[in-house]
This record gives sequence, structure tokens and C-alpha cells, in this order.
Amino acid sequence: MRTKTIVSIVGARPQFIKAAPVSRALVSEFREVFIHTGQHYDYGMSEVFFSEMEMRPPDFNLGIGGGSHGEQTGRMLIEIEKILGEVKPECVLVYGDTNSTLAGALAAAKGQISLAHVEAGLRSFNRAMPEEINRVLTDHVSTLLFCPTDAAVENLAGEGITKGVHRVGDVMYDALLHNLKVAHGKSQIRQKLGLEEGKYALATVHRAANTDDRKRMSSILGALGRLSSPVVFPVHPRTRKMMQEWGISVASNILAIEPVGHFDMLMLQEGANCILTDSGGVQKEAYLVGVRCITLREETEWVETVSSGWNQLAGVDEQRIVDLFENWFPQEERKPLYGDGHSAEQIRDALSIMLK
Ligand code: UD1
Ligand code: UDP
Repeated sequence: MRTKTIVSIVGARPQFIKAAPVSRALVSEFREVFIHTGQHYDYGMSEVFFSEMEMRPPDFNLGIGGGSHGEQTGRMLIEIEKILGEVKPECVLVYGDTNSTLAGALAAAKGQISLAHVEAGLRSFNRAMPEEINRVLTDHVSTLLFCPTDAAVENLAGEGITKGVHRVGDVMYDALLHNLKVAHGKSQIRQKLGLEEGKYALATVHRAANTDDRKRMSSILGALGRLSSPVVFPVHPRTRKMMQEWGISVASNILAIEPVGHFDMLMLQEGANCILTDSGGVQKEAYLVGVRCITLREETEWVETVSSGWNQLAGVDEQRIVDLFENWFPQEERKPLYGDGHSAEQIRDALSIMLK
């Protein structure tokens, strides 16, 4: 009988994707109550993932999107605390490093409820990144810390955290194995956009440090415009807003489209000749589908993608991005870096032991 309750807190696009396999694993042993903070709210940033991944609608949707970091996180904290008081779960589960993660973590910690963090231990060592603050604080109040990589375990040890740490692999790999199969049967995106496998690049940009800096954004788009392939560019709403504000347009080889559903995204990734991104999840997926990645940042949390030879940190240096795209073709063997595709079951089992 499922007597113990876990409250899972999600709010942003990558969290819906990560929560799906975990939720499928939890259902046999726990009652799971879903809180969606509403941080992402457009159909194409939120609902499409619930429907594609056949997740039931969230039990609570707080509708808290937009606003400053403090305001957003604070409003989420207030509402999550109320729900935790009503539901009285044995454990709260949070994902990644968004403001929704931190709000959930603080609400659990202050309510003296066990907290489990999926994707614990990741560090960019750049405190100017809002996500870095969210990760560090969440890890330091977590009871169970589910690390995707060895580097993550080492980062936690470096901060004195060794208790409750489990190296379980990456739930995004679980998700990818499940979703890619479905995507092959369902997605028509390449045909729809007239794209030939291996003959186009794929780009995503949404990091605040890039989108909110006109020079950096112009440099990235300048580089994409000089690539010798067409570039498919699903534009994050934050990025679209800033491009409009600054009146930045894109070169004719860039196909700027709305954010796509996850099945379409996986097919776009798999068929690309190169992925250029500042996204964390997309860097990993590039590695997993075997497509070279040029990361539009100076550092990454996913250091093993770089040391494996499949990811290059280009920052926003226009010439370096173009040179890498035209001349760099990794040949290294890809080793399994992110577990065995059964991270979600390992998470369930660790939760079962803790909540026994
Ligand atoms: C957030 C996370 C980031 C994560 C990303 C995933 C934080 C601090 N940042 O960044 O770590 O990588 O999600 O995509 O939590 N907007 C819309 N519609 C939406 C969602 C957003 O128009 O559905 C616009 C709004 O103007 C909003 C802005 O995008 O103010 C930024 O959204 P927000 O969730 O605050 O940050 P992201 O950049 O999406
Ligand atoms: N993604 C998607 N459609 C898009 C862009 C991204 O399905 O148009 C998926 C992508 O495949 C990955 C996740 O969203 O699984 C990454 O999320 P995002 O880049 O928004 O955030 P990050 O991983 O950087 O936190």
C-alpha cells in the first residue's frame, strides 16, 4: 500500500522532463503530489511536456511566473509552505537549480520535512549565475542528494557534504531513452522544416548572462549568421523578448522558431551536424545523441562532456564559434557518463529506504 506521500515541485521546462521518469518509478511505492509553481506558463514551455510525457496535470498550479528573483522565489515559498502544511508529506522532491527548486527546498527545510534533491552537486563555480546560488543553498538543506556524475559527488565532498549523497546517474538519460523512441514514431519536425539529416545546426540560448547582455547576444547571433549551415533556433521566450527590445534581427540562414515540444527537440538534436547552446540539459543531450556541442558559455557544470572531447566551451567569441563549427569534429569514443538509464529506480529505492 502507498502510505507515504512525496510532494514533487516543478516549475520550469527541464524539470517537467526530469520529473517524468521519476514519477513513473515512484508510482508503485508512493503517493506523489505535484506542485507546479507556474514559473514557466506558455503552452509550449509547460503543458506540452505534460501532455507528451503523459503526466497527469499538477495537483496544484501556483501561477507564479515572472517578477524579480526575490519576488518570484518569495511568492513561491509562501504558497508552497501553505500546501505542505495541508498535505503533510513525508518528503519533498526538487529538481535542478531554478527558483522553483530553491523555493521548494526552503519550504521543506523550514517545515522540517525531509528534502531530496535530484541533480545535486552540480557547480559552475560562478556565483553571478542565479542557478549557482539556487544549487548551493538547496544542496546544503537537502537530506538526500542524488548526484548524476562523479564530479557532482566530489563537489559536494569539497563543501563538506557526504551524508545522504547517492551517485545515481542522470534522470535525463532515463528520459532520453524513453522519449527518443517515441519521438522517432511521432515527430515530423525535420520533414516539416525541410531539414536534411546532418545538414543543419541547432542552437538554443536562454542564460540570463547572454540574453540580458546586448553585446553577448549580438555576438552569438553574429556567429550563428556566419555558419555555413542553416541554423534551427527554437527561441526561448526570454530571448525573444530581449531580441525584440533591442531590435536585433537574425541572418537569413537562421530559422528562428517558437520553442518546440520535446519529441521535436530530440529529433532536431539527433539530426543536427552541431549543437550550439548555453543550456545545461541540451549539452548533455548532445553528448547522449552523439552530436558535437559548442557551449556558448565560459564554464559548464557538465565538465565530463568537455573532457570527453565532445563539448567545447566557446564563450561568445564570434570567431571562435565559427572556427569550431567549421573545423572541429570530435572522433573520441563516447563512454557512458550518465548512468545506466535506471536512475529513477535508484532514486525510488533510496527514498524507500529513507522513508521506511
Ligand atoms: C529558468 C531558470 C533556468 C533554466 C530555465 C529553463 C531560474 C533562475 N532560471 O530561466 O535555470 O535553465 O528556466 O528554461 O530559475 N517567459 C515567458 N513564458 C514562459 C516562461 C518565461 O514569457 O512560459 C518569459 C518571461 O518574460 C519571464 C522570462 O521569460 O520573465 C524568464 O523566465 P524565468 O522562468 O524567470 O527564467 P528563465 O530564463 O526561463
Ligand atoms: N527543450 C525542448 N524544446 C525546446 C528547447 C529545449 O524540449 O525548444 C528541452 C531540451 O531537449 C532539454 C530541456 O528542454 O531536455 C532543457 O531545458 P532548458 O534548455 O530550458 O534549461 P536548462 O537545461 O538549461 O536548465
